[in-house]
Amino acid sequence: MRTGFRARLGRLRHALQRPPDDGAVPPAPRYDSWLEQVAGDELARIDAAFAGGRGDGLATFRGLDIDLWALLLTLEYDAYPHLRAALPGVPDPALQQRWTGVSGAALAAQSAAFTRRLYERFGEHAARPLSDATVLDFGCGWGRLTRMLGRDVPRERLFGCDPSQDILDVCRDTGVPARFARSEFLPDRIPFDEQFDLAFAFSVFTHLSEPAHERCLHALHAALRPGGLLVVTVRPPSYLGVSSDAGYAFVPHPGEITYGEAVITLRYVRERWSEMFALLEADILLDDLFQVMLTLRRA
Ligand SMILES: C[S@@+](CC[C@H](N)C(=O)[O-])C[C@H]1O[C@@H](n2cnc3c(N)ncnc32)[C@H](O)[C@@H]1O
Repeated sequence: MRTGFRARLGRLRHALQRPPDDGAVPPAPRYDSWLEQVAGDELARIDAAFAGGRGDGLATFRGLDIDLWALLLTLEYDAYPHLRAALPGVPDPALQQRWTGVSGAALAAQSAAFTRRLYERFGEHAARPLSDATVLDFGCGWGRLTRMLGRDVPRERLFGCDPSQDILDVCRDTGVPARFARSEFLPDRIPFDEQFDLAFAFSVFTHLSEPAHERCLHALHAALRPGGLLVVTVRPPSYLGVSSDAGYAFVPHPGEITYGEAVITLRYVRERWSEMFALLEADILLDDLFQVMLTLRRA
């Protein structure tokens, strides 16, 4: 059984990490035609607003459909130069793929699906609107989801943390409109003094050892307001070939102690997280079946 685990994981890792045949990442496609066809007039208006100094940062993009917003954030188009200049820069496709497995529009589809569901669950369960909330992207990577929220949550209330200083530098250098700080792999606390209404962690608890996940969970609990929401993604049990009755399954990446591939079953969440968090919802994200989204309320 354990051998089955490792073989499957090895094949998966190999597939995810295999570079294109010639070792090069192909040039990013352009989506001008799609943008012009579905939202040409609106985007031209936004472009003109920025050209005339009338843009209001990312808030200017509020109200656009989430898929359209995610595609705009890829910067994979040539039209609308003033609008483009108002958006955060995007790391090259190779860095995106190293960090998030895919890049460009394929990754934007996943970002849009998660953000849409996040907004839906926050709207149903939170005490205040998102525009008044203080929000943390925990394990933010290059800020691909932080920037999705950047049009709806003002910069002074949007935060991101990650243990990798190099990737936080990418967030800052590309101008993601949020405050960033380095967290520890085994944190005692979140590196901000704020009390959060919402903390989310996409594809973070999918990778943590059991001790690391406990430390992160306690730190998040302490940083959330009473009644605040925690949204995390976890792997389905079949990812590591374990049963739904299993507890915590973890296979470290080579040379790593706290980081690898983890499955946290719902049974484990109900039994072991319940003093800190009540599980409110579990959602399948069809765009990425290996990221199951859990919405929890701080006890
Ligand atoms: C697969 S990436 C996901 C990044 C980002 N959440 C996204 O979805 O684009 C996993 C992230 O978790 C971060 N990470 C690793 N160990 C962590 C820990 N112990 N606490 C918080 N973040 C951690 C990594 O540095 C990395 O940025």
